[in-house]
Amino acid sequence: MAVKNDMTLEFLHSAYGGESMAHMRYLWWGDVARKEGFPKIANLFKAVAYAEQVHATNHFREMGAVVKDSAVFAGAVFGTAKTAENLQGALDGELHEIHQMYPVYLNAAQFQGEKGAERSCHFALEAEKTHATLFKGAQDAAKEGKDVEYSDVFVCEICGHTVNDKTEDFCPICGAKKEKYHKFS
Ligand code: FE2
Ligand code: FE2
Ligand code: FE2
Repeated sequence: MAVKNDMTLEFLHSAYGGESMAHMRYLWWGDVARKEGFPKIANLFKAVAYAEQVHATNHFREMGAVVKDSAVFAGAVFGTAKTAENLQGALDGELHEIHQMYPVYLNAAQFQGEKGAERSCHFALEAEKTHATLFKGAQDAAKEGKDVEYSDVFVCEICGHTVNDKTEDFCPICGAKKEKYHKFS
């Protein structure tokens, strides 16, 4: 269903752009991590890249088809470095979304009565918190030249909730059954 208010539409376009860039950035940084000898951090990047695809898709579904230019406020890194620095870039991007971007977008959607955008922004905001936690742990390991200890990462296909161990029966963010999680290993 298309949004009715221009401000929410702008925010959805920006969020879609930011999530799309995060998706591509994490795929690339995953390849870098694999080449540096961090196959499990590489797997984490691949899993979170999928979660960002879920977010981009949720926003895309809500915006409706409109031909126009739109600015993207990414608040994130462009380009590539070593894995420990890439993880800092990943963390910065997630924290920007958690503390700046999504609280504003979510409040605008609520204020304007845009239920679909409210849902897609709520899902993303809560899922980004799980990404920040996982990237911080991975960075702590990478700084010591170590890989993370876990192999499997699970991502909810509805909201992008991401965990590194076995999932609960229902997603804590969107309530989906655990069959809705995609396993990356
Ligand atoms: Fe996201
Ligand atoms: Fe994220
Ligand atoms: Fe979920």
